Amino acid sequence: MKITVVGAGAVGASCAEYIALRNFASEVVMLDIKEGFAEGKAMDLMQTASLLKFDTKITGVTNNYSKTVNSDVCVITSGIPRKPGMTREELIGINANIVKMVSSSLLEHSPNTIIIVVSNPMDTMAYLVHKTTKMAKNKIIGMGGTLDSARFKYRLAEALNAPISDVNGMVIGGHSDKGMLPLTRLATRNSVPVTEFLATDRLEKVAADTKVGGATLTGLLGTSAWYAPGAAVSSMVHAIANDTQKMFPVSTLLEGEYDLDDISIGVPVILGKNGIEKIVKINLTDAEKTKMQESATAVRKTNGLLEL
Ligand code: 2OP
Repeated sequence: MKITVVGAGAVGASCAEYIALRNFASEVVMLDIKEGFAEGKAMDLMQTASLLKFDTKITGVTNNYSKTVNSDVCVITSGIPRKPGMTREELIGINANIVKMVSSSLLEHSPNTIIIVVSNPMDTMAYLVHKTTKMAKNKIIGMGGTLDSARFKYRLAEALNAPISDVNGMVIGGHSDKGMLPLTRLATRNSVPVTEFLATDRLEKVAADTKVGGATLTGLLGTSAWYAPGAAVSSMVHAIANDTQKMFPVSTLLEGEYDLDDISIGVPVILGKNGIEKIVKINLTDAEKTKMQESATAVRKTNGLLEL
């Protein structure tokens, strides 16, 4: 399997690193516009291969899309990251033009590729790729819910004082501080509902901390996070490469599911060799349905800023 990662900044490099560490891909191409940057990151990563025992070949190129030819999966991380105090939505102007140009250049060389969108505002960027490329909807996947769910599990484990591997939970809705919807009602510790262990106000705090997970890190780091976004992407690419049919919350184009239409937003899906194999419909409570609609309204507002 050949994978291209566009953008060799911190997020792109983490994607390449974690994909390589899992040792399932034959090749990862990193592409960046900054002269020599992707080449340097790729060389540095390749010099970890003998130490970390992976055989994935990582190469770097400066803006040369011909080197990405016949990629099975392309990950778009390019664009500017947010700075402390900024929302993901504020990045739209610059990032929309970049994502439009990058997706069309990728498709010229890999017409059958699956695209994973990481650039923010992610739900709107995934929608933009739908609108401008006309690709099949199963092949455009927004990375947001997988990352937000990892942050949710981190916060749940912290509240439960439990190992993270003991907890399970999912976040749906838009990948934004206000819009994401951590499904506390369905979260479990080794299949026991966490509502058995945590009081409502503690669970509300877990949800609130999850929602500002990215903003908290941006405040601490001075820029957007990269380890967990890279790990989330690598899990998704692994599921596609190995046709695992595992369930992930991702941003996908809805056509009536969850009472939503013509919008890309986070819902559970099955990932496999075709990208999104199936959208999983779960029954939400009335309160969750209302939150999902509010989240969709906010995503639509950002979509409205696109020049389509
Ligand atoms: C985050 O939440 C990059 O949007 C990403 O960290």
